[in-house]
Amino acid sequence: MVQLVEDKLDIDTYLELRESVHFHPLTRDQAEKGLKNSLYTLVAYQDGRAVGMGRIVGDGAIICYVQDLIIRPEVQRQGIGGLLLDSLKDFVIREAYEGTMVMFDLMCAIGREEFYKKHGFISRPTKELGPGMIQYLTIGESGKEKTEDISGDIKKGE
Ligand SMILES: CC(C)(COP(=O)(O)OP(=O)(O)OC[C@H]1O[C@@H](n2cnc3c(N)ncnc32)[C@H](O)[C@@H]1OP(=O)(O)O)[C@@H](O)C(=O)NCCC(=O)NCCS
Repeated sequence: MVQLVEDKLDIDTYLELRESVHFHPLTRDQAEKGLKNSLYTLVAYQDGRAVGMGRIVGDGAIICYVQDLIIRPEVQRQGIGGLLLDSLKDFVIREAYEGTMVMFDLMCAIGREEFYKKHGFISRPTKELGPGMIQYLTIGESGKEKTEDISGDIKKGE
């Protein structure tokens, strides 16, 4: 039996779930600020243990972005990721204004395309839509951008 808990994700659980799927490590400050500024978080519990999570970042009206959708490897492919994704979408629909269109989006990890397609996402670019684009900024001392390229590390995990 899986239970979803809203907006109670703590830093240790967050860092541990990220580590379980080899996402790149975050500092505690980074994790704390990221969680605090999330619009919504969900944790999936199974037998009292946190087995998955997902969160929404964005503005709640125009764009809502799925971040850190994570299911521990030992409980993947049991429908928990799908349940979390559907529940994140429900939140976005509740938040948005009637009669408007909201962008519900994400960056897909390699090999997860089929999972997201099953849940209604399309992959860009299409004939009409350009590609999603990203820049990884490495922050050095005094808040300055460092030139060191860490995108290779990022590719190993979100
Ligand atoms: C992607 C992820 C969230 C999916 O969660 P899940 O609980 O395993 O997914 P569900 O059980 O709800 O859905 C399973 C279906 O999605 C698809 N799917 C899920 N994981 C897949 C994978 N690794 N490769 C291919 N298809 C996959 C399949 O169609 C699968 O159906 P099937 O088991 O009948 O073949 C989970 O695998 C995960 O946390 N992965 C590691 C972290 C990650 O990459 N997160 C996504 C970042 S964009």
